[in-house]
Amino acid sequence: MKKILITGGAGFIGSHVVRRFVNNYPDYHIVNLDKLTYAGNLANLSDIEDKPNYSFVKIDITDASAINQLFGRENFDAVIHLAAESHVDRSITDPTAFVMTNVIGTVNLLNAAREYWKDDYSNKRFYHISTDEVYGALGETGMFTETTAYDPHSPYSASKASSDHFVRAYHDTYGIDCVISNCSNNYGSHHFPEKLIPLAINNIKNNKPVPIYGKGENVRDWLWVEDHARAIDVIFHQAKAGETYNIGGHNEWKNIDLIHLLCKIMDDKLGREAGTSAKLITFVTDRAGHDLRYAIDSTKLQKELGWTPSLQFEEGLEKTVDWYLVNEEWLNNVTSGNYQSYYDKQYNGR
Ligand code: NAD
Ligand code: DAU
Repeated sequence: MKKILITGGAGFIGSHVVRRFVNNYPDYHIVNLDKLTYAGNLANLSDIEDKPNYSFVKIDITDASAINQLFGRENFDAVIHLAAESHVDRSITDPTAFVMTNVIGTVNLLNAAREYWKDDYSNKRFYHISTDEVYGALGETGMFTETTAYDPHSPYSASKASSDHFVRAYHDTYGIDCVISNCSNNYGSHHFPEKLIPLAINNIKNNKPVPIYGKGENVRDWLWVEDHARAIDVIFHQAKAGETYNIGGHNEWKNIDLIHLLCKIMDDKLGREAGTSAKLITFVTDRAGHDLRYAIDSTKLQKELGWTPSLQFEEGLEKTVDWYLVNEEWLNNVTSGNYQSYYDKQYNGR
């Protein structure tokens, strides 16, 4: 039986990856490590928590000694590393938290892999999940490829770029089998409502203003989260050591166009008159250093490993809205507690 450590498994993407691996690979034991920050929620995994090939440990990856003890106790065959501070706006308010988790936390995991796997790196794998934001911003044309130079602009993307460099350095210096993938914006179920799509769904549902930064002209390339989890599965099993793959949806949307589509879906689902939800759109002060456009060229992944995105955006967005409307309790739980004070500071200046 292979033992795989998945970090950040209680978060948005991590929970989809954990679910996929637990269900599809009964001969793997999946250990989900998570600190359970505001973004981590074990309710995301309630459907698989009792499976015999799943266990959970609550650890902060900035705690090197806890990480080392875990590696000493468990004989991991591989790590799939997703734990991170992930929200750009929070990184603008508090960059240090991003350095601690995203950089120091990643180095702590790499150090443990180096120490506990050193007798034979050949059958081990350290797979680091990263973002397209490390490449910076595009103008009206062009796409990010695996060879695009790093040019991060936000504290979040700078911390992710730094962690990517450390992963490559540990591959090149110590010979650890490392793989990296850089993905575009994900959407789908269990997405924390600080991010654009779930925040807008929640606000439209509650008849609250939908804040659009600047003029809504910024472009993101959206990918169904389960397609990302499937790409991670394929890359984990098939990539050669030291490789990098870009993952994206070939699905670019200006924020304002995306929100208009979402408003239309919400009007239909909530039985509101056409145009009702769009009246909630409110243009607010732009994000500092706001990257204009991201677009991923995933040709390498498609050609070498045969992965392609499965869902059309309109279909995926409708499924996402359905999930949030059915899972009202989940939404209420994650927006109680300190969500309100975050929201007031971010959007109401208090
Ligand atoms: P998320 O914020 O929903 O989840 C992050 C998880 O990491 C949470 O469960 C949280 O509790 C955990 N965590 C945070 N700090 C920790 C620490 N110090 N120790 C242990 N656990 C900690 O994030 P997400 O959107 O699911 O992103 C997951 C990964 O994918 C991140 O590395 C992110 O950079 C990357 N990524 C995200 C997207 C996206 O669109 N969301 C796109 C590309 C790449
Ligand atoms: O590209 C991958 C990245 O996508 C991931 O690495 C990050 O972890 C993830 O958070 C996401 O980053 P973005 O900054 O692109 O996502 P966010 O949902 O915060 O914002 C999407 C776009 O919407 C962006 O142009 C900013 C804008 N926006 C966002 C919020 C929260 C608004 O206009 N209003 C808002 O209230």
